Amino acid sequence: MIVLGIESSCDETSVAIITESQIKANLISSQDFHIEYGGVVPELSSRAHIQIITQLVRDTLKKSKLKLEDINLVCATAGPGLIGAVMVGYNFGKALAYSRQIPFIPVDHIEGHIFSGFLNEEKPQFPFLSLVVSGGHTLLLIVKSDLEIIKLGSTKDDAAGEAFDKIAKMLGLGYPGGPKIQEYAAKGNPDRFKFPIARLKNKYDFSFSGLKTAVYRFLTKNYSDIKLISNSDLSDIAASVQKSIVSALIEKVRLALKEHNIRALSLVGGVASNLNLRENLKEIAKNYEKQIVIPDFKLCSDNAAMIAYRGYKLYLNGKTFPLEYSCYPSLRSEMFV
Ligand code: KG4
Ligand code: ZN
Repeated sequence: MIVLGIESSCDETSVAIITESQIKANLISSQDFHIEYGGVVPELSSRAHIQIITQLVRDTLKKSKLKLEDINLVCATAGPGLIGAVMVGYNFGKALAYSRQIPFIPVDHIEGHIFSGFLNEEKPQFPFLSLVVSGGHTLLLIVKSDLEIIKLGSTKDDAAGEAFDKIAKMLGLGYPGGPKIQEYAAKGNPDRFKFPIARLKNKYDFSFSGLKTAVYRFLTKNYSDIKLISNSDLSDIAASVQKSIVSALIEKVRLALKEHNIRALSLVGGVASNLNLRENLKEIAKNYEKQIVIPDFKLCSDNAAMIAYRGYKLYLNGKTFPLEYSCYPSLRSEMFV
């Protein structure tokens, strides 16, 4: 079966072709122009998706050495995301499926991330603990099967990626903030400043807005102008912030591994690119003798291969969708039990 996937939920347009879990092509076009605005501008994002999507589909077919007639299934992100952006890829996918008279599967973006570990050579074994850390979501889940996901906890306010982005902005480091904080943190002392880690009623929930406020207060108290912060202070602040975010994440992972019968651990989403988080989780998995699956960097950030794979699995599980199915609300509410 040859599956074409489309992702356009935020600032990446991506088209992929997969067969089973084998990636034939996974092209990603990133909208770098948002950098000058300090964040993603939704309307500009939608327009950029429209401009590139047709050519990206052509390029993906060419790279895969396939023709449109070879495609058996089309899958596209149905949400959550910027609605205008989601609609571009979603409607393009629907039209493509309709014109070819082949099935179309809408895919929840977060489910795409959750199952992205299956595109790895070593696949996660069920049941696995999934830490989903992206720009918009922070979730701790037990994935029991293709269709059974149990939510242990989630963020009550900002997502981990959002915390990285907002704090990087306060520090004048630009967008996206995660990679910038990581870069400075690599040269800094993570123990120089103590930033808070939230403790919540549900021990598996996360909260990062307190950290954001603490960093803001710290900066206004100690520096009259962020432009005057020395590189060494900036590195120490970045390292301390990264430590606080990573510690909050791994603390819950440790707890879940202790309390639940889990065979593997999987780290997914954009923040899964963070080297410090990857190393810490590998160490924990080793200590608990669990399999660990973290996708390659290209599969951590938004990409269509994960959307194609998730759609393909839903299709194999007998899920079909009428073409009238709208791209919002997302399918996620149906999935989490
Ligand atoms: O999954 P993703 O590509 O998009 C969403 O679905 O949100 O995640 C983007 C997020 C951004 O917040 C970005 O700052 C963060 O992933 N990110 C990182 C790193 N690389 C990307 N955060 C920390 N360390 C990184 N190396
Ligand atoms: Zn994402």
